[in-house]
Amino acid sequence: MEKPGAKSVLLVVGGGIAAYKALELIRLLKARGLGTRVIMTKAAEQFVTPLSVAALSGEKVFSELFSLTDETEMGHIELSRSADLVVVAPATADLMAKMAQGLAGDLASTAILATDKPVLIAPAMNVRMWHHPATQRNLATLRGDGIHVVGPNAGDMACGEFGLGRMAEPAEIAAAILDLLGGGAKPLAGRRVLITAGPTREPIDPVRFISNHSSGKQGYALANEAVKLGAQVTLVSGPVAMPAPLGVQLVAVETAEQMLAACEAVPAPDLVICAAAVADWKVANPAPQKLKKNDNSEPPALAFAPNPDILKTLAQKTKGRARLVVGFAAETENVIANAEAKLKRKGCDLIIANDVSQGVFGAGRNTVHLVSASGVENWPQASKDEVARRILEHCAGLLK
Ligand code: CTP
Repeated sequence: MEKPGAKSVLLVVGGGIAAYKALELIRLLKARGLGTRVIMTKAAEQFVTPLSVAALSGEKVFSELFSLTDETEMGHIELSRSADLVVVAPATADLMAKMAQGLAGDLASTAILATDKPVLIAPAMNVRMWHHPATQRNLATLRGDGIHVVGPNAGDMACGEFGLGRMAEPAEIAAAILDLLGGGAKPLAGRRVLITAGPTREPIDPVRFISNHSSGKQGYALANEAVKLGAQVTLVSGPVAMPAPLGVQLVAVETAEQMLAACEAVPAPDLVICAAAVADWKVANPAPQKLKKNDNSEPPALAFAPNPDILKTLAQKTKGRARLVVGFAAETENVIANAEAKLKRKGCDLIIANDVSQGVFGAGRNTVHLVSASGVENWPQASKDEVARRILEHCAGLLK
């Protein structure tokens, strides 16, 4: 139901296979109480029917520029200005080109050109079309014009190819819409959140170390989303190739011991999420000088010593324990059973289990299972941003 005084969106649906996802987007927007009027291009009508769109949006669907009935009911200028935000999803290569050129040959492009409101596009097209210099030029022009962009994501495409060009998922687009409308809920307002991310590096000597493949993406996505949901965020991170998200307090560390010390220095977090891939062992006695090969000598035998378990230490604190301590479980087999055992062993409240047998490290998407004392929830595959948002919304619910 549209709430009184609620904000509204003008959704322009372009003609691509991703148009079917616009139906889910309309449903999500309506569920959040946003008014949603829809313009469909002629090409969009080849992919989804105006009847489905009208049924979901609860409004007449507009598609004709020169329609006497449409113009008398609501002129195209009024249509483009009555909404608080114009959203183009899917934004096809053709629509992006028209927008970059300022063309206005049909109702969709005319409404986009005539609006005085912010515009968000969710591009969707074949990977080669996306990487084509013409599209990239148009994208740069649109960004320069202040147009907001969500996606595209990488993945399998309807055309059988793989790569960048899949439209962002409806939930990601809905989240971007809520952010732009300033109406995004802030369920973590006033909460202190501590997140660990990235790999640790355990020195062998001053120039060598042992580490792992963690990219830090999931932890950084969590930190970014936690800020958006209103939290005060400290991100304790091992070395990664990404800048800290805006608004996050970053503490850069290298070893597991430094990571634990940095976490323990954070005053009274409400929520701790350990997403770092901490090295379980360190080299017992790192050499103070570079180990030399000395042509005929044997390779050095490295003795290992255990590292502190950061999640376990923070979860089993007797004084000043955070109300909610969440860990990740990277598993290659028996994902749920191992996660359940880990939940008990570490004493945390929730484990986000993911199957890393298929290369999650460095990937943009993730399939996770939520394991807690109250059972297991299996979530569908989503981008790491979307997974992060859902985890934080779930935690915010538990903290209430
Ligand atoms: N973790 C941690 N400190 C460690 C090891 C792990 O804080 N020394 C945290 C990770 O950040 C993650 C969780 O513990 O949230 C589980 O990590 P994982 O590597 O899956 O488990 P391990 O404890 O290493 O157990 P195992 O090697 O048996 O899978």
